[in-house]
Amino acid sequence: MTHKRVRKAVIPVAGLGTRVLPGTKVVPKELLNVVDRPILSYVVAEARAAGIEHFVFVTGRSKGAIEDYFDHQVELEAQLAAKKKTAILNELLAELPKAGEMSFVRQMQPHGLGHAVWCARDIIGDEPFAVILPDMVMDAEVSALKQAINAYDEVGGNIIVVEPVPHDQTHQYGVVAVEAKGGRLNKMTGMVEKPAPGTAPSNLIVSGRYILQPEIFELLASQEKGAGGEIQLTDSMFRLMETQGFHALEYDGVTYDCGDKIGLLRANVAMALKHPELGEAARAALTPFFQ
Ligand code: UTP
Repeated sequence: MTHKRVRKAVIPVAGLGTRVLPGTKVVPKELLNVVDRPILSYVVAEARAAGIEHFVFVTGRSKGAIEDYFDHQVELEAQLAAKKKTAILNELLAELPKAGEMSFVRQMQPHGLGHAVWCARDIIGDEPFAVILPDMVMDAEVSALKQAINAYDEVGGNIIVVEPVPHDQTHQYGVVAVEAKGGRLNKMTGMVEKPAPGTAPSNLIVSGRYILQPEIFELLASQEKGAGGEIQLTDSMFRLMETQGFHALEYDGVTYDCGDKIGLLRANVAMALKHPELGEAARAALTPFFQ
């Protein structure tokens, strides 16, 4: 059976990034650098490698720099061209979207992730779509979102990308319940947000990539506030599970939570070490700290 193609991705970027203050006081969290480029550059590259054709950023006040990042910086480009700094100029130009490839909608108040996704409803329309939480930089040989889309092509419905954590950490995350653990793709039977220690149905946590069917929007429209007084995407997914299939995909790769200070540091170290031009120098610079 062929399933309707996933062409669009929603990237919610309206959160306040309080866990990485003061760095995010004036710079949007999503534009903090990991080595030599903003976090968003990594997730957009991941989505492009998965065949995404349209990006819907759900943005908010003080996040205008995100829109600017994906546009020409005419003066800078002219300067680089005049000084024949061609390599970096080409790198900048390669980041730019094709005309019309990105939309920006405003979430006027941070009512939660569920509300942010709902703000994208008119641009997504009646088709399956991806949700990408940009704090999560997922380093994988085959793009994490591509792995999710491959799973969707196989089983259809809704896909949640998950990853295992030690059992004593499950209470910090959204955790999925799966039917029977056979391989990496398993039918889900439930999910729970931050379960009390010792009560989690598995050690597989929701890790920031989703393929969802458009029926989620009707549920989000009527979704009551949940944990933290916010409209939670998890609560509407749980309701959608009554009528639609959900599968959890344990993806093959490493996740860095760049919305957290130590996660951001880990991402910087890991990406520096594997950087094609900077890797060797990064290793030399870091080694003395461990001797
Ligand atoms: P987080 O809770 O990690 O983001 O939400 P945050 O609020 O920016 O971070 P802290 O906890 O204050 O440090 C996950 C994703 O959902 C988006 C965030 O931008 C982030 O990408 N989000 C969250 C919204 O777009 N709107 C919201 O109302 C809440």
